[in-house]
Amino acid sequence: MRKLYIIGIGAGDPEHVTMQAIRAMNAVDVFFFLDKGESKSDLVKLRQEICERYVSRPYRVVEAVDPVRDPSIESYTERVEAWHRQRALLYEAFISEELGEEDCGAILVWGDPSLYDSTLRIVEKVIARGKVSFDYEVIPGITSLQSLAARHKIVLNGIGESVSITTGRQLAANGLPPETENSVIMLDGNNSFKHLLGQNLSIYWGAYLGTEKEILLSGKLDDIAETIEATRREARQRHGWIMDIYMLTRPAVSNHR
Ligand SMILES: C[S@@+](CC[C@H](N)C(=O)[O-])C[C@H]1O[C@@H](n2cnc3c(N)ncnc32)[C@H](O)[C@@H]1O
Repeated sequence: MRKLYIIGIGAGDPEHVTMQAIRAMNAVDVFFFLDKGESKSDLVKLRQEICERYVSRPYRVVEAVDPVRDPSIESYTERVEAWHRQRALLYEAFISEELGEEDCGAILVWGDPSLYDSTLRIVEKVIARGKVSFDYEVIPGITSLQSLAARHKIVLNGIGESVSITTGRQLAANGLPPETENSVIMLDGNNSFKHLLGQNLSIYWGAYLGTEKEILLSGKLDDIAETIEATRREARQRHGWIMDIYMLTRPAVSNHR
């Protein structure tokens, strides 16, 4: 039976790749890369580098262009679902056309597949369509969240506290999650932290974590919000893309850190 590995490769540093991932990668006949366009080709390059560095048997790479989200679909959820359907067709074609009956394929997922990544949902969609049969296995990877914590040398929670993980979109619409003292914000293209000035929050910000381009900033949000915004803008212009993540903590917890 065909087998598909969904492998978390860490969030930027090739040394994030685990021994388990390396073992799985060395069972793979064909890797499937989705190219998100020129500006993010650094991300494809990292996947190539990881294969070259860690795979010691012959393999093929099949590349496809990632479909773009249709801006004419107004609802965010529907837009993402339509995009997932298109991706499911690509995955289905990959499995049925590129893998022989006993072959093993792999999709290398940025960070870990459990965190803001659609690969597992799409694989479920392919299975639900029932056009191709295959077995699959998930190999965990180091997330950008763990990378942020390690680079800033912080514990995400104060003693006995909880942590929320949310998006820039949610933060801008609803403010900080009310029940938690510690929030990690991902997928924020709009500096949504700007809506939270005057609350005595602390921020730990990281961009391009684990890569040569890495930038780290931390301090009181009110003091460094403008610096982060300017740094973000300049880095994005220089590299053509940016991925950043940050942690916001309420003042009461900073004593416990
Ligand atoms: C689509 S999500 C993928 C998350 C990934 N699955 C993970 O485990 O980290 C992309 C978001 O992850 C964060 N991210 C991923 N890699 C990053 C990196 N190297 N540096 C900073 N943020 C990163 C950013 O918030 C980015 O907008």
